[in-house]
Amino acid sequence: SHKDIDTAKLTIEKNTSPKALLKPEELVFGHTFTDHMLTIEWNETSGWHAPQIKPYQNLSLDPATCVFHYAFECFEGMKAYKDKAGGIRLFRPDRNMERFNKSAARIALPTFAPTALIDLIATFAKLESRFIPDQRGYSLYLRPTMIGTQKTLGVGPPGSALLYVIASPVGPYYPTGFKAVSLEATDYAVRAWPGGVGDKKLGANYAPCIVPQREAMSRGFQQNLWLFGEEEFVTEVGTMNFFVAIKNKETGAKELITAPLDGTILGGVTRDSVLSLAKEKLVPAGWNIVERKYTIKELDDAANEGRLIEAFGSGTAAIVSPVRTISWKGKTIKCGLKDHEESGELALKMKDWMEARMYGDDEHEWSYHC
Ligand code: COI
Repeated sequence: SHKDIDTAKLTIEKNTSPKALLKPEELVFGHTFTDHMLTIEWNETSGWHAPQIKPYQNLSLDPATCVFHYAFECFEGMKAYKDKAGGIRLFRPDRNMERFNKSAARIALPTFAPTALIDLIATFAKLESRFIPDQRGYSLYLRPTMIGTQKTLGVGPPGSALLYVIASPVGPYYPTGFKAVSLEATDYAVRAWPGGVGDKKLGANYAPCIVPQREAMSRGFQQNLWLFGEEEFVTEVGTMNFFVAIKNKETGAKELITAPLDGTILGGVTRDSVLSLAKEKLVPAGWNIVERKYTIKELDDAANEGRLIEAFGSGTAAIVSPVRTISWKGKTIKCGLKDHEESGELALKMKDWMEARMYGDDEHEWSYHC
């Protein structure tokens, strides 16, 4: 019979040589991992096998395994937080599970019951709680991953798969406080396109972005601002969604704008949270919150007319990442920050509102108690 994930079948093998903890300030994003991993195998005849939590260890895979040849791989990024009472919380894990299933389905990998995996991840995160520092800004970055494990070179749907979750304790993305980044508007390389898979969290979407990022770096810019089409629509920044705050040319009303989920934009959990918080907290103050296509030319015009208030990226890793400048066609678009400022008011507020819910200071349904 074809079984879904059964949490009751979980087995836990404890690591008998626990790792020494790094000091929080020594943590580098994604460099060190916890004592254990969660694994669940799948095959097409029997479905999902019994989940296992076991010591963190290498995988052993045949060189012909399909993940290595045809990129049958998708992943998620989410975090576990320690609250004031020492409790462990996830942030909107249902959103990650929904996206994980959509990514998996798009590359012919199996789907699963979202609540079962949330339950297992919660058990895993609790088991690793000693790795989660209790200070603000620190968390446990969780990396659910799914790969096709069939060992044949024939191109087809994988008959077997492995879902695993590893965890890395992380500190604030910018340990010394916000650091505003400079972007290079990128038109010679395209991150995602209509009918493509840019809205799925596939590993294959990330590797091709590294050469353009290195190019931008070599010219003194930290990240790519991904443009699309002859109109030069603004889509995403690096591996993050992108938000701009401008004053409307006609009405003078303040607008927070981000690109719509038209299939070329990754549906970020942080993106959705920024939009929700903005509707809750900024609309009463007169702001309009807008998901629409907009061009780099519009941003340049707004900047030239003093209407560009601020710009920031949003993602799970950095939460929000303020932007200082965008280099476009040889000119520099200034994104509203004064020279001595590393963040605008909005990015700062967003981060605070978001963290209050992540750490449970602002008790909210987004926070999942493990
Ligand atoms: C994010 O959380 O912003 C990301 O997408 C980065 C992750 C791929 C490391």
